[in-house]
Amino acid sequence: PDGRPLTGRTAVVTAGPTFEPIDPVRGLTNRSSGKQGYAVAAALAELGAQVTLISGPVALDAPVGVTRVWVEAATEMKAAVDAALPADIAVMSAAVADWRVDGVASGKIKKAPGGPPSLALIENPDILAGVSAPGPRRPRLVVGFAAETSDLAANARAKLSRKGCDWIVGNDVSDEVFGSDGNAVTLFTRNGDEPWPRQSKTQVARKLAQRIADHFKA
Ligand code: C5P
Repeated sequence: PDGRPLTGRTAVVTAGPTFEPIDPVRGLTNRSSGKQGYAVAAALAELGAQVTLISGPVALDAPVGVTRVWVEAATEMKAAVDAALPADIAVMSAAVADWRVDGVASGKIKKAPGGPPSLALIENPDILAGVSAPGPRRPRLVVGFAAETSDLAANARAKLSRKGCDWIVGNDVSDEVFGSDGNAVTLFTRNGDEPWPRQSKTQVARKLAQRIADHFKA
């Protein structure tokens, strides 16, 4: 009705790191800035989509017109994604921790003469694989990200089939990507690989949002 290609479509986007608690004051996290995911949320909203952005802890303002849900642990991120479904589009760009601490201490762990404590880790749920699983709530288009330091194409293709998503945005992170504004990515789909020239994360996001709009038009 307003002429934008994604008006009337809903999207859920994950972004940023997760924070996995060890005790009430400590945790495990990673260096994801959230910039790429936030840019995707903004770009989808600019094209008219109603966007829910599920965000781990980052220092970024919510894009205009986007509903942000703050989460910390991967299990919270998964619950927030499930609560945001059904949606037409899912873009999972968060850097989800592979493991969380098994048996989070209820009080601050004290330094003890016996030496440092050991942390037992258990595997986190794969949110992207869960969203991609066939069923009535599966979004029509599910996009994942793959950050690789080697064999980008092989790893991205393997991820496409293992996780069951429709597209993978692959980036080679052997040179600086984390926290930087630029990104060189390849779009992997079931119809082939499409390397995109190095461009800003905003441009990558706009191009991806446009491709998503084209997909829904087709
Ligand atoms: O397997 P890997 O972590 O490299 O896959 C990256 C992709 O999977 C990203 O899209 C990321 O958001 C998603 N992912 C997820 N839940 C996990 C691990 C990864 O949604 N537990």
